[in-house]
Amino acid sequence: MRLLSVRLIFSLILAITLVSLLFSYNQVLEEKRSLRTDLEHRAAVLAESLAGNVGPHLENGSIKKLQGIVEQFSNRERLAGVAILDTKLEPVAQSVGLAQWMQSQPSAVAQGIAQNQIQSVFVRTTNGRLHVYVLPLHRDGELVGELVIVHDASYIDAQIAHVWRDTFLRVLVQVFLIVLITVLIVRWSIAGPIARAAQWMRALRAGKVAPSSVAISESDLLRPLTREMTSIAESLAAARLAAEREAKLREASESSWTAERLSVHVRSKLGHSQLFVVSNREPFSHVHQGKSVQVIVPASGLVTALEPVLCACDGTWIAHGNGDADRETVDSHDRLRVPPEEPKYTLRRVWLTKEEEEGYYYGFSNEGIWPLCHIAHTRPIFRDADFEHYRQANQKFAKAVLEEMANTERPVLLVQDYHFALLPRLIKKQRPDARVAIFWHIPWPSSESFEICPWQRELLDGLLGADLVGFHIQSHYTNFLQTVDRTLECRIDWEHFTVNREGHSTLVKPFPISVEFPDPPSATTDNSPYEDRVTLLRELGVEALFLGVGVDRVDYTKGILERLLAIERMLEKNPTYQGKFTFVQIGSPSRTHIKRYHDLLAAVEAEAERINWRFQTAKWKPIVFLKRHCSHNEISRYYRAADLCLVTSLHDGMNLVAKEFIAARHDEQGVLILSRFTGAARELRDALMVNPYDIEHTADAIRVALEMHSDERTARMQRLRKQVKEQNIYRWAGSLIGELCGVRLDVSDRTQITDRATASAAR
Ligand code: F6P
Repeated sequence: MRLLSVRLIFSLILAITLVSLLFSYNQVLEEKRSLRTDLEHRAAVLAESLAGNVGPHLENGSIKKLQGIVEQFSNRERLAGVAILDTKLEPVAQSVGLAQWMQSQPSAVAQGIAQNQIQSVFVRTTNGRLHVYVLPLHRDGELVGELVIVHDASYIDAQIAHVWRDTFLRVLVQVFLIVLITVLIVRWSIAGPIARAAQWMRALRAGKVAPSSVAISESDLLRPLTREMTSIAESLAAARLAAEREAKLREASESSWTAERLSVHVRSKLGHSQLFVVSNREPFSHVHQGKSVQVIVPASGLVTALEPVLCACDGTWIAHGNGDADRETVDSHDRLRVPPEEPKYTLRRVWLTKEEEEGYYYGFSNEGIWPLCHIAHTRPIFRDADFEHYRQANQKFAKAVLEEMANTERPVLLVQDYHFALLPRLIKKQRPDARVAIFWHIPWPSSESFEICPWQRELLDGLLGADLVGFHIQSHYTNFLQTVDRTLECRIDWEHFTVNREGHSTLVKPFPISVEFPDPPSATTDNSPYEDRVTLLRELGVEALFLGVGVDRVDYTKGILERLLAIERMLEKNPTYQGKFTFVQIGSPSRTHIKRYHDLLAAVEAEAERINWRFQTAKWKPIVFLKRHCSHNEISRYYRAADLCLVTSLHDGMNLVAKEFIAARHDEQGVLILSRFTGAARELRDALMVNPYDIEHTADAIRVALEMHSDERTARMQRLRKQVKEQNIYRWAGSLIGELCGVRLDVSDRTQITDRATASAAR
């Protein structure tokens, strides 16, 4: 920067000096010319007027008179003297001061007589510059002498010297100002911003500032660089983040699973094959809203869990298209790419008639298997017709799956849930080369309980068609193995968790499902939970200090009524919380076509109203029941703003709400109250465990949560977050797919595989 300044200053000084000199030189020439002309003119005028006076006296030879005239004129300003000479150049009369100079016989004086012409010249003498004007004198046309007028012209040199001095001073002042201005401009507009930018880059390199804080934008000169610098900074930050993640991953070795790791893992496991998922519930449904079509993400733990997996691994998800605009949004093969905003995998929709849906989904799945598997004291209902629809629906889905797999060798299929107990065998019959797993998202009851299902053998047989059967927790898979043991002819290898039946081996294992664990939002976008709470409560028209949240499908297994009773009891026992604690229950209506669910929805509404009526004031009420489907973003706001989250399921396979709440608490605050009858209770040991049937105990847990010291709250939440982060959905999918791909297939003849694949596609 110093060299630049010196160069800049030097060049400016040189340029200014040259320009000034050029202009001054011109000015000097002009000035000199004008002064000389003026002097010459004055000399000529004086000579003419003197010549008139001198003429008669020269004629008369009156020397005295001539000397008088000469003396008289000699006193004029700047006149050095006057001389009158005859033709022999002898002085007739002359000023005293000129006598000595005239003796040197100046050439102009001699030339005046010799050439008989006016002479006007400037000569330099030891006393300075003189102007000599020589006017030849005539009488009757004859040269009789000459008049010499000599002016002191040294004032012209003085004047010129003055101009040069002014020029020098001007250049000096200009140079000073230029140097000053240059130094200041360089410092303020170039060196300063560059130094700040360099400092910022140093800090960025050291990871001490955010990429968004680019510090050079105030400088016009560097402004064009700001965008580039920002994107370089962002790339650097992203690269650093990726490197950090990578390093952490390496450090944690096997402990961390990310979308990227899963994607690489699945690709390496699948090779040239592909991943297929089948579930009843689709990840996106299209519904008419007014004249437009809206995309809805259904309230489903299964969808929450599997959607990130499909996004990471691509593949095809086959599901029931139940949105009223679903048919309008698929192609001729009933397929579409999703998620709609950034497609990453294929959704293949399967259509069911009203009767099929009634029998298979509402009937056998949700009035039969669902209550059979959940200990929630709702009696299962089994109807022949429902099972027949269940069988047909399984066949329909199997057909769709086989179509999708037709061009894939050794496909990998993940069947989801109790809606498809028959599907694994149907697939394996047609595609023995396929690796098939079924994951049972709900509990598996004891063998005695399961026995009451009239089609227990069919269900078990269908399930054991799979290469792998997965459950959330150990007790579910133990129950399953005992049920199989009691029901079917088979050999169970308890040591290796396998069931061997009719030459086929099925691995049975627990895989606790989880959620994605998102990175914390950037500081600028994340509001404080307290600001969010105030906004949320204002939107609900309630004033409260403390906020609790519950998020469920309105299902009798979720213990929502028990939860409301516990809140009522807490307010009874702790009146100080009246007017201060509000519980928001987000309840997405579910399966309302079934009377039990329809009645439950009404019961929850009535119970919330009853409790509110008992306690509410003008600005506060204890319970807000949001009876609607809420988007993930909306639910996240409640998760982040709440003091506590209540999960009081009477029985639950896992319960992903508990894990979602933990994943959302980037602030490491909030308390989870968790039913011990959920699968999640096995992992989330730092939640406050409750027995939802014990209203008194749950009420106390709510108070404990509200009054928990913030250090303990943080410590518990940190441990919970560590657990959910490590045991995330990518780990679940990674180990499930890893296990499945490690299973030895029963078929070895490749030709046979290809023949069957082609045949099944043709069917
Ligand atoms: O809990 C079992 C389960 O199938 C979940 O996977 C899912 O969250 C929920 O039930 C979905 O219910 P439905 O699809 O019937 O609305």
